[in-house]
Amino acid sequence: AADGKSMLFEKFIIKGGTPLRGEVRISGAKNAAVAIIPAAILAEDKCILENVPSISDVDVALEILSSMGAQIRRLSKSKIEVDTSRIKDGTVPYELARSTRGSSYFLGALLGRFKKASVPLPGGCDLGSRPIDQHIKCFEALGAKADIKHGIVDLSADRLIGTQIYFDKVTVGGTINALLACAKAEGLTIIENAAKEPHIVDLANFLNSMGADIMGAGTDVIKVKGVSQLHGTEYSVIPDQIEAGTFMVAAAATCGDITLKNVIPKHLEPITAKLRKIGVYVEIEDDTDNVRVVGRPHYEGTDIKTSPHPGFPTDMQPQMTTLLAMSNGTSMVTESIFDTRFKYVDELRRMGADITVDSRVAVVRGVDHLTGAPVKASDLRAGAALIIAGLAAQGTTEIEDIHHIERGYENMEIKLRALGADIVKRYYPWICSMEKAAFRIHDDVNQKYDHVLPYGFHLKMTVSYVSRYGYLVAE
Ligand code: EPZ
Repeated sequence: AADGKSMLFEKFIIKGGTPLRGEVRISGAKNAAVAIIPAAILAEDKCILENVPSISDVDVALEILSSMGAQIRRLSKSKIEVDTSRIKDGTVPYELARSTRGSSYFLGALLGRFKKASVPLPGGCDLGSRPIDQHIKCFEALGAKADIKHGIVDLSADRLIGTQIYFDKVTVGGTINALLACAKAEGLTIIENAAKEPHIVDLANFLNSMGADIMGAGTDVIKVKGVSQLHGTEYSVIPDQIEAGTFMVAAAATCGDITLKNVIPKHLEPITAKLRKIGVYVEIEDDTDNVRVVGRPHYEGTDIKTSPHPGFPTDMQPQMTTLLAMSNGTSMVTESIFDTRFKYVDELRRMGADITVDSRVAVVRGVDHLTGAPVKASDLRAGAALIIAGLAAQGTTEIEDIHHIERGYENMEIKLRALGADIVKRYYPWICSMEKAAFRIHDDVNQKYDHVLPYGFHLKMTVSYVSRYGYLVAE
């Protein structure tokens, strides 16, 4: 089914200039969901997960689980039952592992349950070198033997014994894998220099609700007392702070006025602080915790340096740089997490931005406005930045390679349209076989599609079949 997606060539077409107005409901957090889904393996039982975002990275995580023999039932669009009691095998298929970063979490989860795991090296957004040496170091510290051959990581252990793990650098993925591998280890594990992101806390809360004994998540020292058994649970994933931040910046960039629902304002603080600094009005409503964002016609540039939580998140860097590109004065943006997270800058330049990049620093000279252009999304957040640019720009922007965006944003264009944006998704099906075009849509069987395509073509079809993992096949 994942292959089916590439059979349809999709673009976002955005006519810029409309201020976003209204309310938007933020979905569950991608980076929490992709850790919690493999964590369910440790339950050997049924888990009900709520507030799960409908995005392709989640579909891939569910597909991996299912390929190992887990039973997955979609109870509603955002509620899923995962039964991992019958998983026998600890092998993750190559094609699935290659498409996401989260596939590396199957290492920790399978090792924790079966004392062995075989998982291809993970893929995910191309942001430069993304080693997993810290993950491996932590598995070895717990007593596992690790062997990387032909692109596959093989782990095996007779016993997993609690220990002290000190990360050489703060790593979200490494901290998640440490929690997964030691929740059922023998004795106490102390994880030092741990990542503190909200999704680390969410994973720890999920594991604790299954019977684990984890203290200190959200600080840089996490203590885990291993337990011999975990059990099923019902758990709701936290809201996605990066999706929320993306909508906040989009409202600011279009001089809009929007209210975000289903958010945790505390998680948004690093983003809120920067937005307020440049002149965006952000209000947290006391009784509801809804967040209102009101844009202004002009902002003052500022400097930004990404760092681990509670610093400014690297996953918001491209979106914020886009806003700074339209703000007064010169801003300096320093990316301190990933080597190559400025690839979108070339695309922003096509739209009139004045930005120069030297290694990990971008110098952004604000321009009065951007102009629409054909551009390509090189990764997930780069795509989000181009959407923001397109919404604010004069004229029409066409964004290619939007499958990157759909890995992490649920129904982005539908949510934006509800806020008044002029954005549509166009399908270009003639480059593929029309007979069995499989792609991710969430509507029902018999849903009729009627899309006007460029050059006078018309796509008319009826969804006829729902495949196992929520994919629909249209004929
Ligand atoms: C997670 O990636 C997120 N992905 C990323 O989100 C996010 O950008 C990143 O954390 C930082 O917040 C998921 O949660 C699935 P890291 P991860 O390990 O775990 C180096 C998005 O857009 N490092 O915290 O891969 C690494 O190279 C995505 O949603 C090692 O050197 O990030 C980087 O420089 C993109 N050795 C730094 O640490 C290791 O063993 C931080 O990476 C592990 C990491």
